[in-house]
Amino acid sequence: VRLRSDVSGRDVVLLCSLDSPDEKILPLLFAAAAAREQGARRVGLVAPYLAYMRQDKAFKSGEAVTSSIFARTISTVFDWLVTVDPHLHRHPGLESIYSIPAIAVSAAGPIAEWIGREVPSPFLIGPDEESVQWVGLIAKLAAAPFTTLRKTRRGDRDVDISGTGIAIGDRTPVIVDDIISSAVTMAEAVRLIRRKGGPPPICIGVHALFADGAVPALQAAGPARIVTVDTIGHPTNAIGVAGVLAEALAQMLADPHPGSSMT
Ligand code: R5P
Repeated sequence: VRLRSDVSGRDVVLLCSLDSPDEKILPLLFAAAAAREQGARRVGLVAPYLAYMRQDKAFKSGEAVTSSIFARTISTVFDWLVTVDPHLHRHPGLESIYSIPAIAVSAAGPIAEWIGREVPSPFLIGPDEESVQWVGLIAKLAAAPFTTLRKTRRGDRDVDISGTGIAIGDRTPVIVDDIISSAVTMAEAVRLIRRKGGPPPICIGVHALFADGAVPALQAAGPARIVTVDTIGHPTNAIGVAGVLAEALAQMLADPHPGSSMT
């Protein structure tokens, strides 16, 4: 890793979305350390997708809880962090595992704007109970009704989705989830809605991880459209978060410790 500019006395911002993280982490840590050794004033990380967050407990005995381990590592190397919709399930907030200032930008605004432009009379659906945190906010911003389904996960690609009271009527169903990885969650939600007699739903995912075979597996369930946010580059990207990320970045550069000057 080589920095080609003089960074002494500067705020250095490394922008790195952490999909396929294993191959990116070492170069990222080397770049941050090099910036610091070359006199950077502060070194911050903008990671539109933040890796390892779903491993927030040892699901099987002996497993590493990578969300916390990774947070500790990043917190020793960087001065601050900006990310988009990190997967917060058992961790209540980034501050519970990151000891540096961290902003979790929400893609809810850009998603609600897209829905407002593209979807007449939407009905929002979260595929599991934890999705209420983003689906509820998007529904409020888009002035649309919403519900959440229930998910039982038995394995990486073995998921059951159930739900009652999905009163879609003549609205357009829009399923929103934070991550599409194997796409099994999204595909099962599409199948449930179609079994209940609903029209083909639009699928919106924030982070387009799409593991091998995930796109055809989701398409086979029969969605009307698959759309993602551009936190991870993918052909399904249609919703941009550069604007909301830039606002958070400006806030960090102005004052990474808001409130710290208060007495
Ligand atoms: C899980 O709790 C997340 O919110 C997503 O529902 C999940 O990560 C999706 O994974 P997959 O696409 O593999 O079903």
